[in-house]
Amino acid sequence: MQLHICENYDALSAQAAAEVIELVKRKPDAVLCLASGDTPKLTYSVMAKIATDQNVDFKRCTFIGLDEWMGISPDNEGSCHYFLHHYVFKPLNISNDHIHLFDGLSANPEEECRKMDKIISDTGGIDLMVVGIGMNGHIGFNEPAESFGQYSRVVDLGESTKLVGQKYFQQQTSLTTGITLGLNHLLESKKAILVANGSKKADIIRKAVKEKITPHVPASILRNHSNSHVILDRAAASMLNQER
Ligand code: PGA
Repeated sequence: MQLHICENYDALSAQAAAEVIELVKRKPDAVLCLASGDTPKLTYSVMAKIATDQNVDFKRCTFIGLDEWMGISPDNEGSCHYFLHHYVFKPLNISNDHIHLFDGLSANPEEECRKMDKIISDTGGIDLMVVGIGMNGHIGFNEPAESFGQYSRVVDLGESTKLVGQKYFQQQTSLTTGITLGLNHLLESKKAILVANGSKKADIIRKAVKEKITPHVPASILRNHSNSHVILDRAAASMLNQER
């Protein structure tokens, strides 16, 4: 795992965006999994601007969804669907046949999971994942647990995820379960980038980066990935030198 500490959120976003652009220039049919969330918003805006300015074409890329809230419609502004269309697919002009997202309204979420696993293996695997980190150390909806591993699945959301997740919704929303890629997908991706900013993430970043690798801090698994990068601003990195 490589650690990159940037001056601020703008610099972090520029660096993450540059990594995605570099890949797509080199491999125009790359398979990308881009997380939703507040953290990567600026990354995607910068990425879309560079794509326009430098004529970098994402239309041949395949996009894989990381996760979705179960029971939430794709029209809901808090859904991962809505986010990705707004920040990524519309600005980059991506056609629907290149987009594979979990259906949070599916009557058969287990089948939805197997479908996603098959799509990923049919593509030959994910080239790049850009993910955030939850306040409890989750990646996607891989919540703190007794063991790592697994592929796509439906999960009961942790208390902090339900609480923090309200920030994405315009009104109080019942969030109980999510559907997510598994940490095996992360480990098997050719490259993984985790972005985090702000002092509120400093303690969980310290745990993920400095303390033991444990499924109780799911993001710590990135240290078992041979090509993972953690890109932070100074505030998120501020507890890395503290002894415990
Ligand atoms: P955030 O979410 O980027 O909105 O902080 C991160 C996450 O929960 O994965």
